[in-house]
Amino acid sequence: MIHETLIDVAYLIGSVAFVWGLRLLSSPDSARRGNVYAAFGMGLGIIAVLIDPRITGGNNYGWIVGGMAIGAIVGWLAAKKIQMTAMPQMVSVFNGLGGACAAILSMVELLNTDMDMGGKAISLFALLIGSIAFTGSMLAYLKLDGKIWDEQVTWPRHNLINQVLLVITVGVFGYLLFNYPSTGLLIGFLVLALFYGWSFVAPIGGADMPVVISLLNSFTGLSAAAAGLIVGSNFMIVGGILVGASGTILTILMCEAMNRSLLNVLVGGFTATGGAGKDKGDQVAKTITPVDAAILLNYSSSVMFVPGYGLAVAQAQKALKELDDNLEKEGVDVKYAIHPVAGRMPGHMNVLLAEADVPYPKLLDLDDANDALPNTDVVVIVGANDVVNPAAIDDPSSSIYGMPVLNVWEAKHVIVMKRSMSPGYAGIQNQLFFHEKTKMFFGDAKDSIQTLNSEVKNL
Ligand code: TAP
Repeated sequence: MIHETLIDVAYLIGSVAFVWGLRLLSSPDSARRGNVYAAFGMGLGIIAVLIDPRITGGNNYGWIVGGMAIGAIVGWLAAKKIQMTAMPQMVSVFNGLGGACAAILSMVELLNTDMDMGGKAISLFALLIGSIAFTGSMLAYLKLDGKIWDEQVTWPRHNLINQVLLVITVGVFGYLLFNYPSTGLLIGFLVLALFYGWSFVAPIGGADMPVVISLLNSFTGLSAAAAGLIVGSNFMIVGGILVGASGTILTILMCEAMNRSLLNVLVGGFTATGGAGKDKGDQVAKTITPVDAAILLNYSSSVMFVPGYGLAVAQAQKALKELDDNLEKEGVDVKYAIHPVAGRMPGHMNVLLAEADVPYPKLLDLDDANDALPNTDVVVIVGANDVVNPAAIDDPSSSIYGMPVLNVWEAKHVIVMKRSMSPGYAGIQNQLFFHEKTKMFFGDAKDSIQTLNSEVKNL
């Protein structure tokens, strides 16, 4: 009895560590500590589960420890090896595996346990949502990693097919709920759910991927919470609900950031291929030399950096911070404009800039940055593209039309750092590059910033 009470206290401390960790994740300054707290909570929870006679019953330690050892080695190696730019892919895979765990657990319970209607409903729900999260996340990983293109997995009238699949899936769910779920039927339901997860993500692409990733994240959380109900683990329920709730909040924020409704993202079918943007015709983009760019920056009073995915690819955050320091020494006020979907994962830019010790108050969100832009002398866009594309405002045929963007053209001068004229993630042209205020600074972002920095120092 004392033993069980102690275990319950461990679950409680673990749950509080999760909540506290999540709280600390809300600021880049404390995010690292937040991760440690949450990891401590998870570690404590795992130990408690292992010795909890109500759950493991002291059985199967060989399998459990063996599985944990394999998972820990694979997870550790993956986290060590992964490049910062491939982090969204890793998050997708890990997220998908979480969904798969919940699906497997519920399948085992459905096959081996006599359940009442409530138990069956929860288990079928965990099986369904966990399977969708698994295949959906795996496809998101393949798309983000450039291993699969939208066109390869999209069929004509795909959204209609998805709606039919959804109706069939819900129908089978209902049938299984009211009838004895034979092994064959359960396996059929599993295959259907796995297929639906894949098909559901297939037509969503382009700029909509952030929304799908956070939605799948919330699915995994919900399936884990349902799995917690199945095995009677409050700790798992708390963890799952926290993931489910934060994923849902993030999905809403992402939709708001893109000015889209969730339904529109899911059935809107507006993919990377939609709206190629206005033809650039015979317009010519102007370039700027490093010396001219250095003079422009050095003698301005306010500069705003706009980091994007290219900053992450080039790992240019530390070089950017050095340039920032040198400009500040010359009395230039330097700020960073952070678009909510810049990069490839929520908070991508914040993480990179925190890594380079950029003080948090220098980071402006979309609204604050747009307010400050008309009074900014020079905007330097570092590997960003879609998030500064005016087509979102003035081209109704564009696939990103309606998405709030950084109105960088309102500043006095715009310098765009990228390697070529190629489009960004949404695959559309950017008229900003031909704007009268814009000058292109071609090259890898890190090399370009380092060159610019040496020129600033030489002035
Ligand atoms: P993008 O629109 O993807 O543009 C990035 C630009 O960086 C490219 O045009 C590329 O041009 C340039 N680039 C790549 N490597 C570079 C390097 N080494 N040095 C310099 N430039 C380099 O980026 P963004 O403006 O950050 O927008 C993000 C996009 O990704 C949005 O469409 C968003 O919806 C989508 N997305 C976001 C997320 C999240 S949650 N943030 C998740 C999935 C998708 P060059 O090749 O010419 O250099």
